[in-house]
Amino acid sequence: MASSLIFRISPLATLSTTLHFPKPISPTLFSTHNSMSLSQLNSTKMEGTEITEEVTEISGPNGNVKKKIFVAGATGSTGKRIVDQLLAKGFHVKAGVRDLEKAKTSLSHGNPALQIVKADVTEGSERLAEAIGDDSEAVICATGFKPGWDLFAPWKVDNFGTVNLVEACRKLGVNRFILVSSILVNGAAMGQILNPAYIFLNVFGLTLIAKLQAEQYIRKSGVNYTIIRPGGLRNEPPTGNLVMEPEDTLYEGTISRDKVAEVAVEALVYPEASYKVVEIVSRDNAPKRSYEDLFGSIKQR
Ligand SMILES: NC(=O)c1ccc[n+]([C@@H]2O[C@H](COP(=O)([O-])OP(=O)(O)OC[C@H]3O[C@@H](n4cnc5c(N)ncnc54)[C@H](OP(=O)(O)O)[C@@H]3O)[C@@H](O)[C@H]2O)c1
Repeated sequence: MASSLIFRISPLATLSTTLHFPKPISPTLFSTHNSMSLSQLNSTKMEGTEITEEVTEISGPNGNVKKKIFVAGATGSTGKRIVDQLLAKGFHVKAGVRDLEKAKTSLSHGNPALQIVKADVTEGSERLAEAIGDDSEAVICATGFKPGWDLFAPWKVDNFGTVNLVEACRKLGVNRFILVSSILVNGAAMGQILNPAYIFLNVFGLTLIAKLQAEQYIRKSGVNYTIIRPGGLRNEPPTGNLVMEPEDTLYEGTISRDKVAEVAVEALVYPEASYKVVEIVSRDNAPKRSYEDLFGSIKQR
């Protein structure tokens, strides 16, 4: 039975089409704010990177400075949800943004666990390494090109931009990378070459192929990755239950951005998510399962 897959390409262009084709981060390390003590207040300046707020180094009970989760594309519709959910779970976050003014309005302020830095993924791995810094423990990438006149934008952002982030991680020894990608990136190999969503997204600068290239780079990089491929993204709160399938399985369906953000954050917590590609949508009739079970059911390849 076919269901509806909605890929929002831009606020101006919405495609709604019915498809007819066939070593993890310890959550305890970041546990609760109660176990932290503010140790130091810095005013830091990093070359190539603007920091909008004073940097608060926060140490755990044993005095170690707590490391952060770097979120690329933190002002995006999914990125800001990831930031919010990380903070709510007690993680410390370094939000990588292109536009600091936009970040001031879209990201919560006054939270000492949040640091905002300028990070354009097209500017190369050196600058990204400066932005990520030696105080980040993992990177979550929720970037996506902004449609415009530049037909190469998907290639610059969704392929090379992500590759730049992975390279920055390798330079810094950051060994955890979560990527928000998309279902159907490997649509041609799945027999979905005539799927309207596959055609539409690739007509627009070969977007899915660009994302697939980045995925392949990550998988060969040696960095511990979780590649999350959601179906069509919705802004509404989650409904139904989460369906998680192996790569190249799902070709239709939608999911709330809130749920995608949750999966990205839980991937940091569960070791079962390491070195895996997972495809996710929501379905009303799906059984409710734990994240341990969901991630654990996907085989590493
Ligand atoms: N739309 C769908 O139905 C759908 C379905 C499956 C997968 N996806 C994928 O899911 C991901 C998240 O989607 P979304 O709708 O939440 O994205 P979004 O709201 O369009 O946000 C994309 C983010 O990427 C940032 N970005 C763009 N170019 C950048 C650059 N050169 N350097 C650094 N950051 C850059 C944007 O920055 P600014 O805030 O400054 O613009 C924005 O924060 C994307 O990869 C998208 O392709 C989307």
